[in-house]
Amino acid sequence: MIVAPSLLAANFLELGKACSMLNESEAEWFHLDVMDGRFVPNISYGLPVIEQIRKATDKICDVHLMIEEPEKYAAAFQKAGADILTVHYEACKHLHRNIQQIKGLGMKAGVALNPHTPVQSLVDIIHDIDMVLIMSVNPGFGGQHFIPHTLEKVHALKSLIRLKGLSTLIEVDGGVTVENAPALAQAGADVLVAGSTVFNSADPKATIAQLKRVI
Ligand code: DX5
Ligand code: ZN
Repeated sequence: MIVAPSLLAANFLELGKACSMLNESEAEWFHLDVMDGRFVPNISYGLPVIEQIRKATDKICDVHLMIEEPEKYAAAFQKAGADILTVHYEACKHLHRNIQQIKGLGMKAGVALNPHTPVQSLVDIIHDIDMVLIMSVNPGFGGQHFIPHTLEKVHALKSLIRLKGLSTLIEVDGGVTVENAPALAQAGADVLVAGSTVFNSADPKATIAQLKRVI
């Protein structure tokens, strides 16, 4: 299992310490949540913060854009250090073009699905993307409860990926805990995002190690 702790749950006054902790941990990716106050009803952080995080780690920077018109900022996020750029299906009028743009900039391309968006919406684009991010809460806030129907979506997506003979990664984001992680792994998740589960834990590195070992 790839573990991608979300820095949204870190103490922003001690971001350097959070990066060092993740560098020492078994987490492979840093999950970076960008919110614009338009696509989602919240504003998080943006380019200057990601630029600094990029300098603080050699791990994969997995940037989750919860923003309208992501095409306007793709090049800037590449420059800031994103390795993977995920856009929302619901925010893209021309998803195919957006994906080509991201790949053309040398990043891996991800597409995120809100809880109400069927995985079947990706049937004609799945072969062009590197990762699908299944939202297991409504995007915009950390610390929410996992939506149980997500498991069926992960399962259906895994079947679609297998049917087409692809190796697209499945990332699950929102309300992931040590308790629900095994069911997600069994349904077919490859990457688990965890914000509050990691950062509110008494021993974040041990919690990351626990998530890493789920089967
Ligand atoms: C929510 C974000 C998530 C969030 C997850 O909109 O996309 O990445 O940080 O936080 P937890 O793990 O606390 O649900
Ligand atoms: Zn996220």
